[in-house]
Amino acid sequence: MQNFEQFEKHESGIRSYCRSFPVVFKQARGAELITREGKAYIDFLAGAGTLNYGHNNPVLKKALIEYLEADGLTHGLDMYTEAKERFLETFHRVILEPRGMGNFVVQFSGPTGSNSVEAALKLARKVTGRQNVISFTNGFHGCTIGALAVTGNGHHRGASGVPLTDVSRMPYANYFGDKVNTISMMDKLLSDPSSGIDKPAAVIVEVVQGEGGLNAASAEWMRKLEKLCRKHEMLLIVDDIQAGCGRTGTFFSFEEMGIKPDIVTLSKSLSGYGLPFAVVLIRRDLDQWEPGEHNGTFRGNNHAFVTAAAAFEHFWKTDEFAKSVQAKGKIIKERMQRIVSKVGPDSLFVKGRGMMLGISCPDGDTAAAVCREAFKHGLVIETSGNHSQVVKCLCPLVITEEQIDKAMTILDAAFATVFSEQVKTQAS
Ligand SMILES: Cc1ncc(COP(=O)(O)O)c(C=O)c1O
Repeated sequence: MQNFEQFEKHESGIRSYCRSFPVVFKQARGAELITREGKAYIDFLAGAGTLNYGHNNPVLKKALIEYLEADGLTHGLDMYTEAKERFLETFHRVILEPRGMGNFVVQFSGPTGSNSVEAALKLARKVTGRQNVISFTNGFHGCTIGALAVTGNGHHRGASGVPLTDVSRMPYANYFGDKVNTISMMDKLLSDPSSGIDKPAAVIVEVVQGEGGLNAASAEWMRKLEKLCRKHEMLLIVDDIQAGCGRTGTFFSFEEMGIKPDIVTLSKSLSGYGLPFAVVLIRRDLDQWEPGEHNGTFRGNNHAFVTAAAAFEHFWKTDEFAKSVQAKGKIIKERMQRIVSKVGPDSLFVKGRGMMLGISCPDGDTAAAVCREAFKHGLVIETSGNHSQVVKCLCPLVITEEQIDKAMTILDAAFATVFSEQVKTQAS
């Protein structure tokens, strides 16, 4: 019998993931979570995309332990430290420069994804002198007020307590199906002085919508969006907090699309070790901040600098890791397609890109039942989407093929059980 007394007595009712996975975890390694009773689960949630290199990655852990033992700074406000110097140099050399982004500077915005979204929006408004921002249906950008205003999710928006303003919501790629060109629609609205859309400072977009249900924009749509931004003098902010850091098979989700965002937000797997860390990447000419104008106590998580730099050096100096992500993405997709063809393509379909994949179910109850069934058999997996209808696979990118096989076998059986129960219920 599990004992959750301390949590139930002392933790706010706001807690949520623990309700889907009612066990107490004690350890974690790679793609595995281990409870205090010693039961192992394969982790297809991975800190909602924060553990791309797995739990306690040994390379990152070693770098962190060495740093701790040498009494390296933990907290440094935004002072110059050796750890930050190494992070900046490595990030520039290994990630930015080879991707044609050597002209970007880094703003340390505070530890969470929402912090970097707030900073990005604020900067876009400051630079352009405009208030309005375009964001998309089913976009998710965080739960602080500015980030929430650009977020679509009704459940989160409902808790804001104040009006969420200065945003025009537009339909994301394929929102109305593949026959409706949502870019032309936006162009018409933006070109019409009487459309009621105030000239926007920026567009904020996820290239693959993580929380919104793994809706993936095509390269063509992203290129047209970039063109639209140039035409209407709006800054293009790519929120790569969930889709970045290798999740789609390249470091940035957009890097093979031939687009150049003006501002990029990164967080989640940036530290690589699950340490809180977020940045805003700003094209140098847009870096119009006054010193300290956007402030925050926790902008210098030096432990995150150490593990992030170690991750860049270890995983990103060659394209070997990216290729392995692309290969594993294909394996997972194939296994998902098999589930879909077994259960019935009328009911299910595969969504997403790279290792950001999911199976869309007819409704949220079915998806939740699949996740519950999978959890019973040793797989931690969650849903996303506007009706929580997508069973979302967000496993660590370092997961082994053997673990993928085991997890997909569990998932396959979970779908079979849930759908056979549904057939039984309908028949009775
Ligand atoms: C694309 C995207 N942007 C922003 C956020 C907010 O990040 P955080 O929860 O760290 O504030 C998230 C979180 O899931 C996200 O997926």
